[in-house]
Amino acid sequence: MRISQLITVLLVLWIGVSSAKYTNVEMIRDLAIGSWRVFTGLVEDLYYKTPEITPDAYKSPAEFYQSYGYRFEEHKVVTEDGYILSAWRVPGKLNESMKTVKGKPAVMLQHGLLDNSGTFTVGFSNQSLPFLLNEEGYDVWITNTRGNFNSYEHTNPFEYSVFDIHSKYWNFTFDTMGYYDLPSNIDYILDYTNNEKLTYIGHSQGTVQFFAGNALKNVASKVDAFVGLGPVMFAGNQRSPLCTLLKATGLSTLLKWFDFNNLLIWPRIVNVSLKSVVKPLRKTILRFIQMIVGIKQEISVDLSRMPVMGRHEPGGTGLQNMLHWLQMIDSGNFQRYDYGKKENMKVYGQETAPLYDLEVLKENIKDLDMFLIKGGIDVFVAQEDFDQLLNVLSFKEGKTLKHKIVEDYDHLDYIWADSAYEEVSLPVLEFLRNKRNNQ
Ligand SMILES: *[C@@H]1O[C@H](CO)[C@@H](O)[C@H](O)[C@H]1NC(C)=O
Ligand SMILES: *[C@@H]1O[C@H](CO)[C@@H](O)[C@H](O)[C@H]1NC(C)=O
Ligand SMILES: *[C@@H]1O[C@H](CO)[C@@H](O)[C@H](O)[C@H]1NC(C)=O
Ligand SMILES: *[C@@H]1O[C@H](CO)[C@@H](O)[C@H](O)[C@H]1NC(C)=O
Repeated sequence: MRISQLITVLLVLWIGVSSAKYTNVEMIRDLAIGSWRVFTGLVEDLYYKTPEITPDAYKSPAEFYQSYGYRFEEHKVVTEDGYILSAWRVPGKLNESMKTVKGKPAVMLQHGLLDNSGTFTVGFSNQSLPFLLNEEGYDVWITNTRGNFNSYEHTNPFEYSVFDIHSKYWNFTFDTMGYYDLPSNIDYILDYTNNEKLTYIGHSQGTVQFFAGNALKNVASKVDAFVGLGPVMFAGNQRSPLCTLLKATGLSTLLKWFDFNNLLIWPRIVNVSLKSVVKPLRKTILRFIQMIVGIKQEISVDLSRMPVMGRHEPGGTGLQNMLHWLQMIDSGNFQRYDYGKKENMKVYGQETAPLYDLEVLKENIKDLDMFLIKGGIDVFVAQEDFDQLLNVLSFKEGKTLKHKIVEDYDHLDYIWADSAYEEVSLPVLEFLRNKRNNQ
């Protein structure tokens, strides 16, 4: 055993007993483990010559899907409040006539925080959901929410300028995504494909915006099944060392000083960064990301896919959205965005941010079949928070509420782990098949 492995094992053993709430001592320990792993990753990266960048990293979405034999279309969805969102459609094979595409059931894939529709291209094609769902006979739609760089448009670009971080454009959180983006995306897809309902698959924030949206209005009546990968409704017990550091040190207020909303520059420098940063530092970057989403001992992600990740991520979001997440972590409640007393009064008619009404949510989602998958070391979906979520959803009678825990998964492994085919994709396909057979 190499000395670096020994030290890593010793540090990881220190995790030992973990208390219910994530303490600052645990945070410091995890930051030490994480930093050490980043460091050893860096040493390995510098020591080994990394292979060439996969051509997939340079392809546009259309080129990417077409090179694997699939049709690709990009659609623009305009929300009720004027945001223009990009929706990627992968309706079928290139050699398939559009006649057979008509009448396919639709499925919608919704990405998570700081992410975008590109996330579903990061894994190998044989493990990724758009391809597998297509084989299964679905018309696949991969949607984007406001504030990521696939969706930086508004019908009123002067008042809602993405270039000005103080403009109205950036006044949104996952609350607004649930209220506006979610129903607009769903309505557009149903209208375009002539379906009455669709199947919804959300990752992380893609699930909380579904819950938030349905606590405010009924969207779920247009959905026949819900799949949640790393589902979140409560976040009070999260164990991300970096997020906790932000919170504990008040660094989040510092974020306000930076032009954090603006990842606009990313798509323009991506080629340079792929060559000079992502290619030589694959392991370092992977381990840094793991320090945010769940500290690992083993690498289960194929490093050759890191440049594809680097092309699409971070996908961008607004600062207000990040602050909403921190508020959820702080309070442990499933609550709306806290604007501060004065603005709360204007927006909600009360000084504090209201909790989402779980009774309304339950009523709206009561007819949904649901399947949730949670990673055992996913720091954003702590077991206590997940239990609380199951508790809210368990009222269902005569409807399926299935869940599965994948022991060694962190918050991104559902999408990009090598084993995602067996651990996530196959169980999801089986759930959907059972659902269809029972109709
Ligand atoms: C389309 O091509 C695939 C192989 O890529 C083949 O299996 C399938 O039968 C073809 N379908 C049609 C309609 O030609
Ligand atoms: C998927 O493709 C990768 C790379 O070609 C390969 O290493 C892996 O074994 C494949 N997985 C499955 C489930 O076929
Ligand atoms: C990045 O490189 C690819 C392939 O070399 C090229 O097609 C693309 O236009 C480049 N993008 C930018 C923003 O320079
Ligand atoms: C921000 O958005 C909320 C809810 O969508 C709205 O009520 C509020 O007036 C907006 N604030 C500003 C400053 O535009």
